[in-house]
Amino acid sequence: MKVLEAAFLKGYARMATDGFLQGWHERNGGNFTYRLKDEEAEAVREDFSENAPWQRIGWQEDDHSVFPGLAGEYFLVSGSGKYFRNIETDPAANVCILQLNETGDLFRIVWGLTEGGRPTSELATHLANLEVCKERDPELRVVYHCHPANIIALTYVLPLDSRVFTREIFEMATECPIVFPEGIGIVPWMLCGGQKIGEATAELMKKQDVVVWAHHGAFCCGRDFDLAFGLMHTVEKAAEILVKVMSMSAYKLNTIKPDQFRELNAPFGIRINEDFLYEKKDGRIGCMPEE
Ligand code: 13P
Ligand code: ZN
Repeated sequence: MKVLEAAFLKGYARMATDGFLQGWHERNGGNFTYRLKDEEAEAVREDFSENAPWQRIGWQEDDHSVFPGLAGEYFLVSGSGKYFRNIETDPAANVCILQLNETGDLFRIVWGLTEGGRPTSELATHLANLEVCKERDPELRVVYHCHPANIIALTYVLPLDSRVFTREIFEMATECPIVFPEGIGIVPWMLCGGQKIGEATAELMKKQDVVVWAHHGAFCCGRDFDLAFGLMHTVEKAAEILVKVMSMSAYKLNTIKPDQFRELNAPFGIRINEDFLYEKKDGRIGCMPEE
């Protein structure tokens, strides 16, 4: 089978368009990886070329990322500088499939980027995330990065504290703690495109499905394209509501209370992390748990 006919390629391209239509991918903003199942790689192997050189993972001189947990695997990865709006119309020019070597420290492109280029500058973060995600759930295959305006806006006005950020988002929609009961991780502003921010993000993704990069964007993971896209959509929708609420008032008159969140646990088969269910003195938005 040709890569262009494969269901995983079509699902990936559709999600890229969905993200673009949400306004999350200005210019070349965002990047996106999918770890292929063995049978998916096998089905399109006839389309792979093994002539490309093995390359180091990392853009910066001192970066040397190694991912033994992903050794030998294949990944569908967006190209650096490529625009999400073009992925569905010409996937072969805008994305690639790459393979990691048997020690997980080098990659080679086996398909795609037909007009040249290289994988996303955030490759180290994607692989670091995929490695820790695979460890906690072997079916977690999608890692997605985008630039959603409301999530980013909140990183200027909320404390960059996972407890506060998560709690304020949770209060904006009952479905939030059901969809991501482990909450949102926060990486303070760091230089993007390298190993250090990748390690900081993956440390949080060991437990959390969503990680916000302050003043930049967000990462999420999922078992499939629907779950990853739906997760980002849910967080960004709640962030949009919070932006509206904060534009009206610094205080909430009404909200969902900690004991009401706890009521969700049994019926929805979840266990909302208690770190987010602290008592608040009043309705001021963004107050720290100890205030
Ligand atoms: P790339 O074009 O290299 O994927 O970079 C886009 C981006 O969002 C960087 O964080
Ligand atoms: Zn980005």
